[in-house]
Amino acid sequence: MTRDPRGAEGRSDPRFASLGADAPPPCGPLGGTPPTALIDTATLLTAGTAPARARPPLGDRQIGDPVDQPMLILEIERRAGDHPHAILWLGDASGRLPSAPLWSADQGRLVGLRRGDVVAVRGRITSWRDRRQLAIDSLQVLPGERAPWEDLLPSIGDRAPWWSRLDAWRCGLGSPRLRAALAIFFDDRDFRHRFGECPASTSGHHAKLGGLLQHSCEVAHLALTLARATPAADPDLLLAGALLHDIGKLDSYRWDGPFETTVTGHVLGHVVLGCLRFDRAVGTAPNPPLTPSELILLQHLILSHHGRAEFGAPVRPMTLEAEILHCADDASARTDAMASALADPGLFPDGAEVSVRPLWQLDQRRVWRGRSAWGRS
Ligand SMILES: [Fe+2]
Ligand SMILES: [Fe+2]
Repeated sequence: MTRDPRGAEGRSDPRFASLGADAPPPCGPLGGTPPTALIDTATLLTAGTAPARARPPLGDRQIGDPVDQPMLILEIERRAGDHPHAILWLGDASGRLPSAPLWSADQGRLVGLRRGDVVAVRGRITSWRDRRQLAIDSLQVLPGERAPWEDLLPSIGDRAPWWSRLDAWRCGLGSPRLRAALAIFFDDRDFRHRFGECPASTSGHHAKLGGLLQHSCEVAHLALTLARATPAADPDLLLAGALLHDIGKLDSYRWDGPFETTVTGHVLGHVVLGCLRFDRAVGTAPNPPLTPSELILLQHLILSHHGRAEFGAPVRPMTLEAEILHCADDASARTDAMASALADPGLFPDGAEVSVRPLWQLDQRRVWRGRSAWGRS
């Protein structure tokens, strides 16, 4: 496929135009909902669910099912040793699967293939040691411009409900200077386009197109909920911090193919990149909307939101709002990782209740589909 560093450099891509680069709404002085209004997450998630596709999700395919569809090459894993072989990790919007091993005699099939290529795959689902895999009969590279991108990359679906909640929050802020600071970002068409597409991680929580938008709304919702139980916290500052805390991910990730970390993402990290982006946009604006000390309050929220140095925070939370934001961020990330793991049929073959393997994104825990109707009909 054609590599377009849209994720790192901000060029918009017509392939994604239909995914929603909404124009910012008019944001009058007090035109929205007060920031203490919370979201109905269940409604937003239902509204935002990606449309059902004719093809069953990869995780629901049974052993022996045929596969005949375009897929994205997510990884080419070459293994040395006495029996050298390669594994192709292939995916679509619904999930990912490893190929059956391609032994030395089959490796001619790999010539010219690269991570990020889109291929027409024919084969069938098989199993090895409780893991489902894809036995490949044929592979044909598709030109990038003919690739059905919306079927190949996981997505939160319709962004409109999330944008409408986010815009109502920010437009309803009672603090004019915070409203103006947020408008620098969320009134900017290019920023909105990229913020609405960026994943919140490459393979952990909210690793979907639009994942950053969803995660930011969840963090805002959780932070405002905590603020209701913590009257000393400033809900306006919390809301601004929640919506801005991960803006560095726009510079840290690319999403024009398999999600990946950019060079600057590796060497600086999204926490520092977020503070730099915030400072460039707000601190050096011709008419800065914030006082120097207000600028530092928001910079502190961005820089401390991971809580501690081993999790990538240059400083630990030192204000009540920073502590609440860290808790809200952690809760959104952890609950999404847990919910995604429990929803992954590939982890529960043959009706297993406990996942067949521990998960790195959950601190090497296995997950359990423990459930009861509790007497409900
Ligand atoms: Fe973060
Ligand atoms: Fe976050």
